[in-house]
Amino acid sequence: MLVLLKQNYEALSREAAHIISNAVRSNPAIKLGLATGSTTIGVYRELVRLHREEGLDFSRVVTFNLDEYLGISPEHPHSFHHFMLEHFFAHVNIDPSDGTIASDYEQYCAAYEADIEGAGGIDLQILGIGRNGHIGFNEPSSSFASKTHLKVLTKATVDDNRKFFAACEIIPRCAITMGIGSILASKRVLILATGGAKAAAVANAIEGPVTAYVPASALQFHANATAIVDEEAGSRLKLKDYYRDVMEMTELFTPGRSS
Ligand code: F6R
Repeated sequence: MLVLLKQNYEALSREAAHIISNAVRSNPAIKLGLATGSTTIGVYRELVRLHREEGLDFSRVVTFNLDEYLGISPEHPHSFHHFMLEHFFAHVNIDPSDGTIASDYEQYCAAYEADIEGAGGIDLQILGIGRNGHIGFNEPSSSFASKTHLKVLTKATVDDNRKFFAACEIIPRCAITMGIGSILASKRVLILATGGAKAAAVANAIEGPVTAYVPASALQFHANATAIVDEEAGSRLKLKDYYRDVMEMTELFTPGRSS
C-alpha cells in the first residue's frame, strides 16, 4: 500500500482532494465511490473550492455512496444521503442520487451492485476507517468477499456515531453497506485517517496481519490502494521512515505531485 504521511488534517484533506481532482480531470466521466464521516468533510470542502475557484467540472461524474443507515429517511439530517448533499453535492455541478432504500433490502442490495457493474465499476473509492478497523460499515468479522449487504453495527460504531445525533434521538443499529468485495473491486482505493483515536486501526490495517478482525487489512490485497494519514493517525506505524523515503523519492521523480 502507498502510505502518504501528512502533517495535519488540512494537509491530508488537500492531498486527497488533489488526487481526486486529478482523477476527475483525466477522466471527466469517472465513477466515484464516496464515504461520509467527519474525516471526509475537509476533502469535500477542498473539492468544492476547486470547483468554485478553478472550475473543476463534475457534470459527467457518477457517484455511489458507500453506505447508508437503515431506519432513517434520506431527508433526515444525519442520513448519509443528506451528509453528501450538505457537504458536497449541493455545492458542485453533480447529479446526486435519490437515496431512497427500498424495503426489500436483498433486492435493493443486488440492484445497487448491478448499478455499479452497469456503470463499468468504481474507478476511485474514498474510504474512512473506524476505530475498530471497519471500512464502509463492514464491521470486524465481515467477509472479504462480501458485496452490498445489510449490516448490524457493533456497539463501538453505534457509540462513535452518537456524536452526530441529538441526545434523545434513536441511533441507527443497522446499515446498508458496500461489502469488502465491492470495495476491493474498485480500480483504486483511497483510505483516509486523522487523529490519535485511529492510530491503532491504521497500524493494524496497513502493517498488521490480514484478518477479518480488522476489515481494512483487506486493502493489503488491493493493487492500487493509497492511505493518507496525518501525524497522529500514523503515529503507530512501524515503517514511518520508509514511507517518508518513498514520498521523498516520488517527489524527486514527479515534482509537485504531493501537496
Ligand atoms: C462512512 C463510513 C465509515 C466512516 C468511518 C470513519 O460512510 O463508511 O466507515 O468512514 O466510520 O468515520 P469518521 O470519519 O467520522 O471517523
